Formats: sequence, C-alpha cells, structure tokens
Amino acid sequence: MLGGALRDADPAASAWDREDVDVLDEAALRKKLLALSPSAIINCVAFNDVDGAEEQPGAAFALNAGFPGRLAGLAAELDVPLIHYSTNYVFDGVQGEYAEQDEPNPLSVYAASKREGELRVLASGARVYVLRTAVLFGRPGVSEVSKKSFIHLMLDLARTRGILNVVNDEINSITYVRDLAAVTYSILSGGLPVGIYHTVNSGPASWFELADEVFRITGSSIRLNAVPAAYFPRKAKRPAKSVLINTRLKPLPSWRQAVGRFLSGPDSPVSVNRV
Ligand SMILES: NC(=O)c1ccc[n+]([C@@H]2O[C@H](COP(=O)([O-])OP(=O)(O)OC[C@H]3O[C@@H](n4cnc5c(N)ncnc54)[C@H](OP(=O)(O)O)[C@@H]3O)[C@@H](O)[C@H]2O)c1
Repeated sequence: MLGGALRDADPAASAWDREDVDVLDEAALRKKLLALSPSAIINCVAFNDVDGAEEQPGAAFALNAGFPGRLAGLAAELDVPLIHYSTNYVFDGVQGEYAEQDEPNPLSVYAASKREGELRVLASGARVYVLRTAVLFGRPGVSEVSKKSFIHLMLDLARTRGILNVVNDEINSITYVRDLAAVTYSILSGGLPVGIYHTVNSGPASWFELADEVFRITGSSIRLNAVPAAYFPRKAKRPAKSVLINTRLKPLPSWRQAVGRFLSGPDSPVSVNRV
C-alpha cells in the first residue's frame, strides 16, 4: 500500500515488488542493489499480520528485523540514506501519547519484531531515518495478501450489514499513505538529521471515531454500536492508546481532513461528491 503511494509520488523511482526480488534472498538483493546504485533506499517491506505474527515469530522477525538490519548494512556500504518504517505498536499504550524519544515497550510479537528492526537499522552505522507510523489507509496494495485498510474493511462490511460493532476503547494515530509518501520525500530531499520521526496525520482516533467519520462522509445510514476491544478476542495484545506525537517535523494535516481527501479523491473506493 505505501510502496504504491511512494511510486505514484515519484514515478521515476525504481520500485521493486516481490516478483522483482525476494528480499530474504540476500545475494539476489545485494546484486540488484549494487547494479542499481541508488541515491537512497526506502524499505516498505514488512510482516504486517499482527495476529499472524503470534504464531509465526520466526517469519515476523526475519522480515521486520533481520532483513532491515542487512539492508541498512547495504545502505552503509553504498553510502546512501535508508528510510525504514516502524509502528505506534512499539509502545505499550500506558502513557497514551508518545514523542520520538519515549521508551518503547512492545506488547506483541509483531511489535517486538518491529522494535528489533528499529534497533538494528539504527545501530548499523548507515544514515537511517526510522519513520514510525500508524493505521495506514489509501489505495490498497496490488497483491491479494496486502494488508487491507480498516476503512476498506468497514466499507466492505457495510455492503452486507445494517449495524456494525466497532471498538471504541483502542485509540491510535491514523495515516494517509499519500501524506506519508510526501513527508518521506521531503525528509530525504531536505537532508534532515537522521533518527526517529513520528509521521502520522494529526490527532487521536478510536476505531469507532474513524468508522463514524467514514460513514458520515459517505452518507451511509449504517448504525454503529460502540464495543470494547475485548468484544473481539484476538491473538495479539494491542496498546489501548498509542498516539504518536510529532515533535520534529511540520505537523501533517488532521486525520479527519486526510480521510475526507482520500474518500473524495482519485484513490477512493466509493463515490463521494463533497466532504
Ligand atoms: N498497514 C498499516 O496499518 C501499518 C501500520 C503501522 C506501520 N506500518 C508499516 O508501514 C510499512 C508499509 O506497510 P504497508 O501496509 O504498505 O505494507 P503492505 O501493503 O503489506 O506491503 C508490504 C509489502 O512487502 C512485500 N513483501 C513481503 N515479503 C517480501 C519478500 N520476502 N520479498 C519482497 N517483498 C516482500 C509484500 O509483498 P506481497 O504482498 O507479495 O507479500 C508487500 O508488497 C511497513 O513497514 C509496516 O510495518 C503499517
């Protein structure tokens, strides 16, 4: 999903998918990268199945920690900056709002694997930017297994149901991938100091508030019922409130504005006249 937005924002960039290279094939990746000799590397690959990671910790750590660590080594060798993405789930949710320097405490295998990825890229000696982000939405990735955004999930469910139960006691930041792609390129072109950045649309949102805003904009008559997270038992533990505070960059637009732009723009899965 994010890779597609980055490619749209800079069609001249070389964009590789799984068909182009299996990033876990170290020799193939190295050969391809050295042949390209890029001016920067942006890594959008991840094991993103939060519940699935509980049963496949090896696969999650291989893709979210081992691979980024090796990629950062290649970036150091090529002497180019690396952008790597992490998640608001590295925090435990107790404090609720987190600035870049706050101490992570992952609650799940997925979160621990992403935190380990952060530590490995930051320790690599490469010029690394770790962009922590949260709850991405935008045009879906082309692959069938690409993670479906919560907004798409809600719109799909609304096609067959008159009432939806939506969690109101889990609160996150929300991020439009077009905004994330734009801020990614501005960090690179601005030559900003390396380190951790919080790159999300501004403001906190519960899943309920996000769904409510989507259906308000689309004019849906569906009824929403607020339920606690415990209503949907899931394998992985999630932070109750993990809102990323951006103290290093110009704030991104509010999440409500970003959702409105998405639903009334060219990436929208529905037709909306005005927001
Ligand atoms: N989505 C969210 O809500 C969210 C929230 C917080 C942080 N993030 C972070 O943001 C970044 C982008 O997420 P996203 O939602 O855009 O991810 P995504 O749509 O799931 O894309 C991940 C990509 O990685 C590819 N991939 C997986 N294993 C590979 C391999 N061995 N070789 C080559 N390619 C491989 C996948 O290909 P296949 O589709 O063929 O498997 C897919 O194209 C990730 O770092 C993620 O952890 C995402």
